[in-house]
Amino acid sequence: MDTGALLVILGKQGAGKGTQCVMLSRYYAIPHISSGDMLRSNVRQKTPLGIKAKAAMDAGELIPDEIVTEMIKARLLQDSAISTGFILDGFPRTVSQAKALDDYILPNKFDAVINLDVPQAVVLKRLASRRVCQDCQAVYSTSMPPKVNWTCDICGGEVVQRDDDTEESILRRLELYDKETYPLIDYYTKANILKNINGVGATEVVLKRSIKAIDSALKLRKD
Ligand code: AP5
Ligand code: MG
Repeated sequence: MDTGALLVILGKQGAGKGTQCVMLSRYYAIPHISSGDMLRSNVRQKTPLGIKAKAAMDAGELIPDEIVTEMIKARLLQDSAISTGFILDGFPRTVSQAKALDDYILPNKFDAVINLDVPQAVVLKRLASRRVCQDCQAVYSTSMPPKVNWTCDICGGEVVQRDDDTEESILRRLELYDKETYPLIDYYTKANILKNINGVGATEVVLKRSIKAIDSALKLRKD
């Protein structure tokens, strides 16, 4: 079977990974696989994983590598995501997770790793105004609210502030980004698949920048 785009998206908390992934997954017709959304859904359904993960997530701490890696591997096996393509959001988030992914899916199979570059001051502002649907996790903000009274446009769920969008948790998540996730930029630069994208600007403008970078990577693969 011809492989669709195999993509990873990186970026600080609030850089717009989730927002861009929804649009990219539609554009390339590939599933959006978000470790954060999967974990939040486990928390909401009170699964054993969700019960274990909730306190760490609320505090902005990372979930242990082995647990998240197993969760993602299981997801990649569903609907043959590996052969049809996918976009990974929030995973990998540590070098150890990236290595586990490389052991699972050959590193030279990835088409592009998009790094959404957004300054700290901008992400802090975006996180403070973010609101999400507690049922389907669609992302909104106080400046881009749902059409009707904080009711999700997509599923009718209640649109609320995320439990980890508190000042304390945001600072901890950004601290962990610098320590654990930033090294992935070097990791994927060395693998020659990193695409730095300016993540500041209207969402459609950022989308166009990403599509241009991804299309040129896909063209290289086909040539
Ligand atoms: P996760 O859900 O991945 O959260 P995060 O990393 O903190 O990233 P965010 O979702 O906060 O940011 P985003 O870049 O998706 O921004 P968004 O599009 O929403 O992880 C949550 C937790 O789960 C972690 O802290 C950890 O505990 C655990 N976890 C998850 N994965 C893990 C892993 N691999 N290993 C270990 N633990 C893991 O946008 C933000 C706001 O900005 C929105 O309001 C949006 O409307 C707005 N916005 C977006 N784009 C623009 C734009 N261009 N202009 C203006 N506003 C915009
Ligand atoms: Mg997100």
